Amino acid sequence: MALDISELQTITHDVIVVGAGGAGLRAAIECSRQGLDTGVVCKSLLGKAHTVMAEGGAAAALGNADSRDNWKVHFRDTMRGGKFLNQWRMAELHAKEAPERIRELEEWGAVFDRTADGRINQRNFGGHRFPRLAHVGDRTGLELIRTLQDKGVHSGISVHMECTGLGLMMDGGRVAGMVGYWRETGRFVVFRAKAVIFATGGFGKAWKITSNSWEYTGDGQRMAYDVGAELMDMEFTQFHPTGMVWPPSVAGVLVTEGVRGEGGILRNKDGKRFMFEYIPEKFAAETADTEEEALRWLQGDRDARRPPELLTRDEVARSIYNEVKMGRGSPHGGAFLDISHRPADYVKKKLPSMYHQFKELAEVDITKEPMEVGPTFHYAMGGLAVDHDSQMCPKVPGLFACGEVAAGLHGANRLGGNSLSDLLVFGRRAGMGAKEFIDANPGLPKVDEARVKQLIDQAKEPLMRPDGENPYVLHDDLRESMTRNVGIWRDAEGMSQGIADIAKFRERLKNVKAHGTSQYNPGWSEAIDLHSMFVAAEATARSGLMREESRGAHSREDFQGERKEWIKYNIVCFKGDDGEMVVQKVERQSGPAELEKIANASIEDVEAGRV
Ligand code: FUM
Repeated sequence: MALDISELQTITHDVIVVGAGGAGLRAAIECSRQGLDTGVVCKSLLGKAHTVMAEGGAAAALGNADSRDNWKVHFRDTMRGGKFLNQWRMAELHAKEAPERIRELEEWGAVFDRTADGRINQRNFGGHRFPRLAHVGDRTGLELIRTLQDKGVHSGISVHMECTGLGLMMDGGRVAGMVGYWRETGRFVVFRAKAVIFATGGFGKAWKITSNSWEYTGDGQRMAYDVGAELMDMEFTQFHPTGMVWPPSVAGVLVTEGVRGEGGILRNKDGKRFMFEYIPEKFAAETADTEEEALRWLQGDRDARRPPELLTRDEVARSIYNEVKMGRGSPHGGAFLDISHRPADYVKKKLPSMYHQFKELAEVDITKEPMEVGPTFHYAMGGLAVDHDSQMCPKVPGLFACGEVAAGLHGANRLGGNSLSDLLVFGRRAGMGAKEFIDANPGLPKVDEARVKQLIDQAKEPLMRPDGENPYVLHDDLRESMTRNVGIWRDAEGMSQGIADIAKFRERLKNVKAHGTSQYNPGWSEAIDLHSMFVAAEATARSGLMREESRGAHSREDFQGERKEWIKYNIVCFKGDDGEMVVQKVERQSGPAELEKIANASIEDVEAGRV
């Protein structure tokens, strides 16, 4: 029976925000504050978001735990951590605005841990020069979501839960809304809006071992790519060094970097503290090279250099990987992370979730025994290319992106804690950007009926087929291929194989069958999500193949080390006229002179305010 568009449920807002993690909620609060009628559409239940996996804290140069900290030091750390591929302006805005966003969050009710004199306490994290992470034990992301949710629902935002986006509608070159379906009933819905903000997060579910939960399938990346947006820096996928490795049912679950921030030590199976062997030249001046100095740092000596466990995530993840490869790993293929040298009460107070997580899931008491940990896919530095100030996707007027779905701030490698502050800073900016766009383009765009039909017909295919392949098998094959071919270490042969595999998977997707009805049918949802995972995975492999060097989180066996010529380029992917993915190098603009000066200055000069 032909689809009658007029029978479809239609919901109209000035702006819809897709995704209700920290970035989506902060964007929605801003939109509402600006007087826009705001709808939030989320795939899961409100409050269930990957934001909670940023456990250890939000990075902001408040200078509470060390008064030498300021935005310039934070900016410099972020650029160096990102191997200078970050967008200069975004890194500047982030470092400058993060403190204000954290204080605002406190005003809205977030209960941060305190210093002895009552200020927001801050802890150490990898790559941050000073203790900089405002935190709530090891549940910071959860507190952030709780606070934003509370503020959001009291700001008059409409929330549409358990609704998955299928695709965007366009009207004469500007975005006109999104078509989706309710997971509970399987019914389709058309959201009309003058602007759309994507805050849909990452795509870790295309890999086997990941801290991401089922929602992280790259929906925003794919929907935007389908209507002409560019994906940038997709080769940079972050493997957090410490996920659980045992038991297998919880492999990949995050073990917060806060453990190392509180003094956690990494050892191999021989008991050796191996990170001393992996200090790269460029971080040597800031990293302790003896156990004795690392201990002095832990005891609060401000002149001691930081322990090597607090090198950036890319360095630590590769080091663990190497220890395992050399046969020095823990029994289940990881390393030992030990915090038992700190007083048990302290560990339970600062790391309560880790204490319970290991007790309940692995029967390990972390106050007495080491944890077994290994790298887990945690975060995508790449995503939608956006305007640095407004967060609008330049190729799709009216579409904005913030948080993990957007690219730019983190360059080749994100520093831990920079994502919670990212989503506050750029969530707000996306809301302001949407307001500005709507003021300039106040009319409600038209619905493209043919497009709505096309999206719905495509979504229904797996249900309508008489028989076919199980979507879960296809997903497993994708995860297997990405893990093997586009993992921590990659090479041309593996990535080419990954691309070839995806082409075959796409053919198989044409024959996938979802049994049962459309109501609460996870198999059907899985079949729909595969389209998105394929786009994200293909863009990662294609960009990775093009970047012939190792930089940050992109490590190539066949091109080891950074290559000077590659600092000049970002890699973007977009959909060509023939529907195939196009990959291109795009020349980067050099940074403004004053920012280049800060990023390249010695730490002494930055701290002393000489630049
Ligand atoms: O390790 C963590 O707590 C994660 C933080 C982050 O990804 O920013």
